Amino acid sequence: MPSSIVIGSQWGDEGKGKVIDILASQAEVVVRSQGGNNAGHTVVNNGVTYKLHVVPSGILYPDTLCLIGAGVVIDPKNFLEELQMLKDKNISTKNLKIDPRTHVVMPWHILLDGLSEQFRGNSDIGTTKRGIGPAYMDKYERCGIRMYDLVHPEIFRQKALSTGALKNKIITEVYGGEAFDLEAVIAEYTEYGRQLASYVDDVSVLTYEANKAGKTILFEGAQATLLDIDFGTYPYVTSSHPVSGGVCTGTGVGPKMIDRIIGVAKAYTTRVGKGPFPSELNDEIGDKIRNIGGEFGTTTGRPRRTGWFDAVIVRHSVRVNGLDGLALNKLDTLCGLGDLKVCVAYKKPDGTVLKNFPAALEELDGVEPVYETLPGFTEDISGCRSFDELPETCKAYIRRVEELIECPVCMIGVGPDRTQTIERN
Ligand code: GDP
Ligand code: IMO
Ligand code: MG
Repeated sequence: MPSSIVIGSQWGDEGKGKVIDILASQAEVVVRSQGGNNAGHTVVNNGVTYKLHVVPSGILYPDTLCLIGAGVVIDPKNFLEELQMLKDKNISTKNLKIDPRTHVVMPWHILLDGLSEQFRGNSDIGTTKRGIGPAYMDKYERCGIRMYDLVHPEIFRQKALSTGALKNKIITEVYGGEAFDLEAVIAEYTEYGRQLASYVDDVSVLTYEANKAGKTILFEGAQATLLDIDFGTYPYVTSSHPVSGGVCTGTGVGPKMIDRIIGVAKAYTTRVGKGPFPSELNDEIGDKIRNIGGEFGTTTGRPRRTGWFDAVIVRHSVRVNGLDGLALNKLDTLCGLGDLKVCVAYKKPDGTVLKNFPAALEELDGVEPVYETLPGFTEDISGCRSFDELPETCKAYIRRVEELIECPVCMIGVGPDRTQTIERN
């Protein structure tokens, strides 16, 4: 398939990095189109673990072109550290390009992320405090600093002085915080710009040309559908469009370029940060899933909330993204948990049953998940490499998931390594 999108179908951390890394073996170009270093994508190859935040997960293949599209926001300091981490592991970044339109996460965005979370008190969102929301706010307010500006010191200086003055006013007068020394920020970030200048190129043009040349392109989603600013659990969402539609606006390509859309989900559900989670398990089984599955944030190290597979949210993802197939990861984690439950609907306190994920959180007040119970399994499946090798109980679980979400399961993850995957047609 020439052009495929891979996106998260739950609340993030579904194993998108692993799926991209596997599919990238057949791709010539991998493109990120939204989010920033709030993402943490893990790739495990031959026992070595790579934790990527902004660099596309195709980077482990030396000849793959890795592109960062206009819809991404980049913290240059953190990004340079990520590049250094890769160089330390002998991974070349020579094929990496950043669109000049990407917005720069400035230090005031990070500070304001923390201050506004503090101001919200108990109603905080539980952000990654990477400055993502404030950076996208400036983009849409039309006062952001872009990568083009950062690599042109005179333009950068002017923009940093004007936007920095406004930010200092907000930091000191609204939050009572300490102002930034703008000259010091300009000096530090001008140096980052100097180091990044050679990576800047027009990703819309590069992607278009690659497609015209018949190259295989993979679009790597970050975050996930239920964290989408419009179709997620607003306001407990991120500030970008992780849904498949966001790929076109975030890269600068037309929808006709896309041939296939793959969603990624876990065989259960996790969430980091606050917000509704109808199938959450605050019990021993939830703890077991967290411990067996190693469910601690790749970016912040926070323990992830855990729960049963929720077919309502994944069916929502199938619709919103137009999924052609679902990669279902971490089936191995469910081993030994006893009977498995799958949430098929939500029951409201007045008895109404919700089959579609509602538009507003208020609709979820007091809902109870409606579960179907399926037999569990105790066999070690981490060595299975074909659907036929799986125990009958696993096969039945997957077939029921497919019926409930109305989408075929095209890949099954049975372990973190790139080889621990079952591919289906
Ligand atoms: P992403 O943000 O969607 O790329 O996912 P993360 O990398 O944040 O989290 C997924 C975690 O699950 C990582 O630690 C992966 O190494 C791991 N993982 C992915 N697929 C599987 C799988 O099938 N089985 C197991 N046990 N771990 C997996
Ligand atoms: P990947 O790509 C899981 C969550 C945060 C918080 C909310 C808003 O690894 O799947 P933000 O810092 O974006 O303003 O935080 O979104 N969040 C993620 N959760 N995986 C991610 O990315 C996430 N990126 C943001 O925990 O609840
Ligand atoms: Mg992650």
